[in-house]
Amino acid sequence: MDLERVDQIIEKHNSEASSLIQVLLEIQSENHWLPKEALERIAQRLDVPMTRIQHIATFYKAFSLVPKGRHEVHICMGTACHVRGAPRILDTVQDLIGIKPGETDLDMKFSLQTVNCLGCCALGPVMEVDGVYHGKMAPAKTADILKNYE
Ligand code: FES
Repeated sequence: MDLERVDQIIEKHNSEASSLIQVLLEIQSENHWLPKEALERIAQRLDVPMTRIQHIATFYKAFSLVPKGRHEVHICMGTACHVRGAPRILDTVQDLIGIKPGETDLDMKFSLQTVNCLGCCALGPVMEVDGVYHGKMAPAKTADILKNYE
């Protein structure tokens, strides 16, 4: 992400320190992660200590300090999903996109994570892609869903 774009986002929020989280959220959403140079620019422009920014960026799950793919895939491995076949869904997704949980593929297309419960256990097994929930998953269905993402 170029620093000019970071500046635009900061200016959109009137360069106010009280908008720090909004600025971080916007950069995360646009860039999929928070590069160090962007955080340094924010610290300088908003006159906020780097330690505070780092604390926020590591505290909230919405932020990532490492590069992420364009699409985030979450597979629920909670008990309800587990007994309904979540491990097979996870295996299939790993085979399809070639990465394990916690990894991002070389094309920066997908990042994969497992989670403990997505809060819709009756729909298990559940896969979530970019905030969209796909319930009652079956291995064959995963390929159909994932092929829609560029
Ligand atoms: S256990 Fe999967 S949604 Fe709750």
